[in-house]
Amino acid sequence: MSLALVPDFAPAEAVARIAAASRRKQQPQSSGDLVSLAMGEPDFDTPEQVTEAANASLRAGRTHYSPLLGEVALREALAEKLASIAGAASSPADVLITQGGTAGLAASILAIVNPGDKVVIPDPTYSLYADLVSMAGGIVVPVPLADDLHWDLDRLADALAGAKLFVFCNPVNPTGIVHSHAELAALAELLDGTPTIVIADEAYADLDYTGRPFTSAISLDGLRDRTVYCQTFSKSYAMTGWRVGYLWGPQPLIHASARIHNTFNGSVNTVVQDAALVAVRTGDADIARMRTAYERRREIMHAGLATIPGLTLSSPEGAFYQFPRYDIDIPSVDLVAKLTEFGVAVRPGAEFGAHGEHHLRLSYAASEEAIETGVARLGEGLRSLGAHRAQ
Ligand SMILES: Cc1ncc(COP(=O)(O)O)c(C=O)c1O
Repeated sequence: MSLALVPDFAPAEAVARIAAASRRKQQPQSSGDLVSLAMGEPDFDTPEQVTEAANASLRAGRTHYSPLLGEVALREALAEKLASIAGAASSPADVLITQGGTAGLAASILAIVNPGDKVVIPDPTYSLYADLVSMAGGIVVPVPLADDLHWDLDRLADALAGAKLFVFCNPVNPTGIVHSHAELAALAELLDGTPTIVIADEAYADLDYTGRPFTSAISLDGLRDRTVYCQTFSKSYAMTGWRVGYLWGPQPLIHASARIHNTFNGSVNTVVQDAALVAVRTGDADIARMRTAYERRREIMHAGLATIPGLTLSSPEGAFYQFPRYDIDIPSVDLVAKLTEFGVAVRPGAEFGAHGEHHLRLSYAASEEAIETGVARLGEGLRSLGAHRAQ
């Protein structure tokens, strides 16, 4: 249908700003014989007891509005969990239940950033951050990573001068690296004495394969009091379609974020929060089961990628991504399009920032068979396209 009665309609400037800045692409669909290593979500089903809890909640007639900050029982359970992660006191009043991690990020970024504010993000990183900063009218300052895909602390120090906000994820989408305690301590030192706020998106915190305990930003004294912690049930519990996550942090930041979240979303679906509570209370064994599977798949993928000439492998420390660099002189968006002709879908590194160029993001949230076939096809595609260039 055309907008015949409003011929001069132009989308609001916020839409234009997002469109101008956005690198986000529609995820390639698996079709026919295409093997997809492009997914950003677990391929496991949600644990059965969680789904059952939602059914029971519906049957019990839990179909009315929830409190605006979220169900009290869920916030209490999360406050307890957060106190143990942070090693500090935590109150349910400091927890905001959100419509997935996406809405938590949106609420916190829109609650913090004014037009013209400088917001520092690593480059490459999860592409939603830059879009949300653009929506708020802020200025995105991308900081290229070091060659090992960890932070380049000198560049970060320069970029952070005068920044309102620093947003990062750990473990990292798309690189699959995990920032260590030492890196987070270095960040705390860089920010010492500044008014810069931090958003720590730890969506993949349960998927750390380094063998050392995962360090949350909120466990550091030098970061906790300036940090909004953003979490989601999507990845740990295979609950992407449920749309539930949460924020935790200093009360003024959480209350400001709640104001935005309530204005956009109202409260979160009551049944979903009841199911999330069961996930928090009973889901540890499920997390461990899925983690073990990812760990095995990550090794299969890494071993397969190591046999492909011209790839420089990333260190697969966490999440379910690997981010190899390739040496063919083709932009990653074009390379990804060509690779589909070889029957494999992956994501272009440039989708996650200009410095993600000449990388591919591969997800091992896929069956072992799909990983083996997909990596073999990737090798075939790269060999063929590389040979073509040399001629
Ligand atoms: C780093 C990171 N944060 C947040 C999200 C958003 O997750 P949700 O499904 O909870 O909106 C994603 C999803 O891919 C992600 O990769």
